[in-house]
Amino acid sequence: MKTLGQFLISHDEEKDLVLLLERIMLSCKEIAVQLREGALAGVLGSTDITNVQGETQKKLDIIANEVLKRNLLDLEMVAGIASEEEDLPVAGNHKGRYLVVFDPLDGSSNIDVNVSVGTIFSILEVQSNQDCSHPDAYLQRGRQQVAAGYVLYGPSATLCLTTGDGVHQFTLSDTGDFLLCQEHMQIPTSTQEFAINMSNQRFWEPETQHYVGDLLKGADGSREKNFNMRWIASMVADVHRVLTRGGIFMYPWDNRDPNKPGKLRLMYEGNPMSFLVEQAGGLSTTCYGDILDIEPKHIHQRVSVALGSKEEINTLMEYHASAR
Ligand code: AHG
Ligand code: MN
Ligand code: MN
Ligand code: MN
Repeated sequence: MKTLGQFLISHDEEKDLVLLLERIMLSCKEIAVQLREGALAGVLGSTDITNVQGETQKKLDIIANEVLKRNLLDLEMVAGIASEEEDLPVAGNHKGRYLVVFDPLDGSSNIDVNVSVGTIFSILEVQSNQDCSHPDAYLQRGRQQVAAGYVLYGPSATLCLTTGDGVHQFTLSDTGDFLLCQEHMQIPTSTQEFAINMSNQRFWEPETQHYVGDLLKGADGSREKNFNMRWIASMVADVHRVLTRGGIFMYPWDNRDPNKPGKLRLMYEGNPMSFLVEQAGGLSTTCYGDILDIEPKHIHQRVSVALGSKEEINTLMEYHASAR
């Protein structure tokens, strides 16, 4: 079985990119150890700190962020990092080639109940002469990503990675290596499974309500087939299910708070997951257009997300096509 490093080298990836990805995985291993120890390491529970997203930080949000930050800013090829948990990006080596953008711990509401969480990352190339302590340096479209991936800390720790040539899955072995388990993951084109937080139903746009309403009618409605529902509330775990057996995952716009039209973040969640899903033969959309084509305006910008099986995403977009 090939290790991550062996796999990347055999695919002629740039040496610096290989070193960078290996360092991200070293960080994920450190995070996995902390998660496994849980209460024994005293790392469960919340702090009284509110992050820039307006969320109360869990202890593990801070720990995971510090692990990635420390490991990445130490590398020569890293020009800067931006994180869900940092107000502003942090500059690294001014001669570095790469920017790393990450959600250090995704699904942090699941930590204290011992349910799967993850780490999401996106790698961009620095554009000429930019100040990498400034958010503008990171505002690239998702299509410009060099690599993206996530580690799911579940019953096993798995990495799903793309460098633009398919999505490949690795599992963390007890010797500490991420070993290749599956090349070129493919999302089935049709599905009978959806994932959405139904408690927000009344806040969605009418078109989204109509679409989900028809899913719920199943074989008795216009869709003529029954749908199953899952919601783990860790995007990494929900997207991993979609990558593995198909489905549609949605966190659409809602009008709960006019200042926060969506929950998920474009740079840390929307873009890397969309890159992975497209590379596995699926689609991702805001309900109106490709997420990967959005020109970001703010580093912490939020986005409406729907991703997964191609036919289902196309159907969803048809429901919304008349609206705008
Ligand atoms: P994070 O823990 O990084 O802030 O992200 C949480 C996100 C995502 O993982 C998940 O899909 C969603 O929040 C769950 O939200 P609800 O609790 O509103 O269902
Ligand atoms: Mn958060
Ligand atoms: Mn997240
Ligand atoms: Mn997070």
